[in-house]
Amino acid sequence: MLPIEAEALSYAAGGVAILQDVSLRIEAGPPLLILGPNGAGKSVLLRLLHGLLRPGRGRITPEAPTRGAMVFQRPVLLRRSVGANIRYPLALAGLPWAERRRRAAAALEEVGLAALADRPARRLSGGEQQRLALARAAALAPPVLFLDEPCASLDPAATRAVEEIIAGIAARGTKIVMTTHDLGQARRLAGEVVFLHRGRVVEAGPARPFFNGPASAEAAAFLQGDLLW
Ligand SMILES: Nc1ncnc2c1ncn2[C@@H]1O[C@H](COP(=O)(O)OP(=O)(O)O)[C@@H](O)[C@H]1O
Ligand SMILES: [Mg+2]
Repeated sequence: MLPIEAEALSYAAGGVAILQDVSLRIEAGPPLLILGPNGAGKSVLLRLLHGLLRPGRGRITPEAPTRGAMVFQRPVLLRRSVGANIRYPLALAGLPWAERRRRAAAALEEVGLAALADRPARRLSGGEQQRLALARAAALAPPVLFLDEPCASLDPAATRAVEEIIAGIAARGTKIVMTTHDLGQARRLAGEVVFLHRGRVVEAGPARPFFNGPASAEAAAFLQGDLLW
């Protein structure tokens, strides 16, 4: 699956250009954070990379119906127990019963939901639901995991719990590709960044130099909190 190579992607909707000439390469390594002001095109780019949308122009390799797993801002959970939410996709993936049990138990343990395994998933709090969505994705051990603002509707404590889980998934070798509007979170998690502005990649590279001294005026303004759209 890796590297994923996006070449000169363009995407338009309703005659409006949303992404223009976006090229990037996703390689194994620490998390890649896609940053940029509201409306920059981060969510659309993530959906293109995962395969939920098809680019109008350009191409993404490897070609596949979908690449990796994805977790959304608002988790989509089955009307079943917490444990069943994890085991179901493992069954779809063809894993044998004992392996499904083993992986589901390990994933629930990792996100601190083992005690809630028999609860209806949709009754969990927002933070617990997002941890479950991450556990479900991580149990599949995907080579790459796309996360679209996974903490956008969570409070600070739930956000920190989710960040720890994401760091754990990354440490076990899954490439994280994630959007966030939370710069503190981006600094904590990012190994590399792609900075989008008005549908174009303005900067891309290792996180530390980007945060310490961005090359572009747009990124500098964004990091100072001046560039809001
Ligand atoms: N299906 C769509 N039809 C029309 N416009 C869209 C569609 N999806 C996204 N957009 C527009 O594209 C721009 C980028 O959206 P998005 O990727 O959600 O931004 P971000 O995630 O960076 O905030 C926004 O102006 C949004 O309104
Ligand atoms: Mg978005």
